[in-house]
Amino acid sequence: MILSVLQQPDPRLREKSGEVQPADIPGLKELALNMLETLYSIGNGVGLAAPQVGRPLRMFVYDVSSDRNQPGVLINPEIISHNNATAKNIEGCLSCRGFEGLVERYTKVTVRAFNLDGKRATVKADGLLARVFQHEIDHLDGVIILDKAEPVPPEQQGAGARVV
Ligand code: NI
Repeated sequence: MILSVLQQPDPRLREKSGEVQPADIPGLKELALNMLETLYSIGNGVGLAAPQVGRPLRMFVYDVSSDRNQPGVLINPEIISHNNATAKNIEGCLSCRGFEGLVERYTKVTVRAFNLDGKRATVKADGLLARVFQHEIDHLDGVIILDKAEPVPPEQQGAGARVV
């Protein structure tokens, strides 16, 4: 089922989402599948956080593969380490339609989370995936790119942002 995605300035996008109790994880499979279906229904979307569909839970789905066949779901994600290098790149957000901005992110992060099977998972990410993880974890804390984006320089406009 395709879910409706909350749009800025909906105040629910600004709330801090709650931790998921491990016992509740099995009950989140349908939500995760619906979130992935919603993500795939939007051509350039690469990540979607539960609060964006009105569920204030610390959970997000993502797929950065070009064939859109490598979905992932992370629950209670925490960045446990990152490198010191950052990069600025263009981001959009499914909850801020029509907006693009330059956002600075760590280029490598290690995230600890639960997966949908209720198992602990540690995921190392770099490049676009690291960027998506940081963007989605921001959503879980009520932070959106309007809070941190800089204007896109003219020479980079229209380059085709990935929206998360
Ligand atoms: Ni977003």
